[in-house]
Amino acid sequence: MGQAARDAAELLGQARRVVIFTGAGMSAESGVPTFRDALTGLWRQFDAQALATPDAFRADPALVWGWYEWRRATVRQARPNAGHVAVAAIEARVPSSVLVTQNVDDLHERAGSAAPVHLHGSLFAPHCSGCAQPAPVPDLTEEPAEGRRIPPPRCARCSAAVRPGVVWFGEALPTEALEAAVEAASTCDLLLTVGTSGLVYPAAEIPQVAARLGAAVIQVNPEETPLDRVADVNLRGPAARVLPALVDAAWDRPHGA
Ligand code: OAD
Repeated sequence: MGQAARDAAELLGQARRVVIFTGAGMSAESGVPTFRDALTGLWRQFDAQALATPDAFRADPALVWGWYEWRRATVRQARPNAGHVAVAAIEARVPSSVLVTQNVDDLHERAGSAAPVHLHGSLFAPHCSGCAQPAPVPDLTEEPAEGRRIPPPRCARCSAAVRPGVVWFGEALPTEALEAAVEAASTCDLLLTVGTSGLVYPAAEIPQVAARLGAAVIQVNPEETPLDRVADVNLRGPAARVLPALVDAAWDRPHGA
């Protein structure tokens, strides 16, 4: 084990309040594409302005709804990876830990994390675009394919179009989630940031808030990111390999060794 891994394990083993902050790289090894990967990233292949803005939904609801149904189908076929399982293990070891995710998939929940704070919403929480009433998650009768247009369901209360429960470009983050994330980052002694490019604000503020208020920051990412300079320890590698090793090293050794 290298020095960085030893330092990270010691920080984690001693921490009392941990925030785990995750991005799309967390789910990459489950087969869910990230946004900015040079080859497979969603925003390299698709036009975010035509799919992930309120204007796009107004202009072509079936295109937007169909694209998110395709993404929901991709996630449904994916399984949590060893990194998600390791995150749930950290939460079990450190009861006052808080998981804050930018991901709209449900892989953390399926790995055993009880209540992730979803900063960017969820593919599994559609709501009315008119009156905001939560709407049922539709059954995927016909498997959506990429590019298939699917008209959105209608709201049972006001019959406006139901929209995906994700945060789009130009929209505010859900207030409760953002407040919970800032509060957790302000009071933690360790923040572990995993698989995020750290480019999208205000989410990218969360590790910076923790660092400013004195928490140690560990970053897990195979690539360099703007968060490198915020992190006390940078673990360069994929989440599904690095996180289980980190958990083992933090706790599976004699106390004080
Ligand atoms: P990005 O696609 O911007 O960044 C993914 C990060 O994961 C990159 O830094 C990769 O190097 C890293 N990565 C790739 N594979 C990894 C692996 N196996 N293990 C660990 N890290 C890996 O995704 P996010 O940072 O999540 O917003 O993007 C932030 C937001 O931008 C998303 O929540 C989404 C998007 O627009 C909304 O949908 C509102």
